[in-house]
Amino acid sequence: MTSGPIPMIIDTDPGVDDAFALVLALRSPECDVRAVTATFGNVGREQTFPNLRRILALADRADVPAAAGAVRPLVHPQAETAPDWHGVDGLGLRADAFPAPGPGDARSAVELMADVLTSAEAPVTIVCLGPMTDAALLLGSHPALIPRIGRIVAMGGSLGSGNTRGAGEFNIYADPEAAHRVLTQADVPVTLVPLDLTMRCAVEGTWLDELTAAGPRCATLAGTAALYRSTFLGRYGRDALVLHDTLAVLEAAVPGTLRTTAFRLGVACTMGPERGLMVPDRRPEAPGAPVEVALDADVDAVLTEILRRLTTLDRVAHAAQPGHR
Ligand code: BDR
Ligand code: CA
Repeated sequence: MTSGPIPMIIDTDPGVDDAFALVLALRSPECDVRAVTATFGNVGREQTFPNLRRILALADRADVPAAAGAVRPLVHPQAETAPDWHGVDGLGLRADAFPAPGPGDARSAVELMADVLTSAEAPVTIVCLGPMTDAALLLGSHPALIPRIGRIVAMGGSLGSGNTRGAGEFNIYADPEAAHRVLTQADVPVTLVPLDLTMRCAVEGTWLDELTAAGPRCATLAGTAALYRSTFLGRYGRDALVLHDTLAVLEAAVPGTLRTTAFRLGVACTMGPERGLMVPDRRPEAPGAPVEVALDADVDAVLTEILRRLTTLDRVAHAAQPGHR
């Protein structure tokens, strides 16, 4: 058992819900965020990396090392990005409302992750909020450090329907080979938070208004949701923001928050319409170990707890810092 805050690395593709998730981690006392890394995903890494540092600046946590990760999937080009949801800037066309990004770390994402693991005195949780490319590269390139990873918690996949132009869920569809690598290895326990649960965790105007009212930093964060809400309204007929990535962070911070079921999983890496589909594999000879798939939670309690934690954002040390809009 780890006593004290959990050492954590967060790999992310900000991304509107990624921004909420990262702030959630930075405002959760259980999380000792030792590094954050930016992968391609919702938009290109040329956007996600400065966005990552904008979010750190918003939370007054520019002290957290931030490194640049993968610019593309392991094998095939990325099939789609998500500017309709996250804006071409990745922050709902509100990137300019954030404080300016601080400097990035000179190390690559994998180098930074390896350094954090090497110096960690307790097992490190790696949280994946985008395509799993950086995690797959880490596992493949630093096998000696794998025992230092306590757990991987990833948002991705679906046992039901997907949310891409293909059949799969976005993070897995963006790099199926990387997801297959991470989800079929037996060395590190994985908890996967799929669409089946996250789509039940949509918040509407009242929740976002409460966040907005908590202060100017909270209002900046909540403001990123406007474009997503209108796109969601067009597709699903409901004015809401789905908090996909925050669920993975809350589970990483407070293990057991989400109720899981164990499945051996594979990922369809073929090039047909099934590419990126997550495939439960019940064969005894299936590779890897069962993945804990989070399929249920007390949704109302989870959304209330996320809001409670996010609304502490304006209690950061320099809340009145000049220059922050
Ligand atoms: C996932 O895809 C991204 O658009 C979101 O940030 C989330 O990580 C949901 O499918
Ligand atoms: Ca994401």
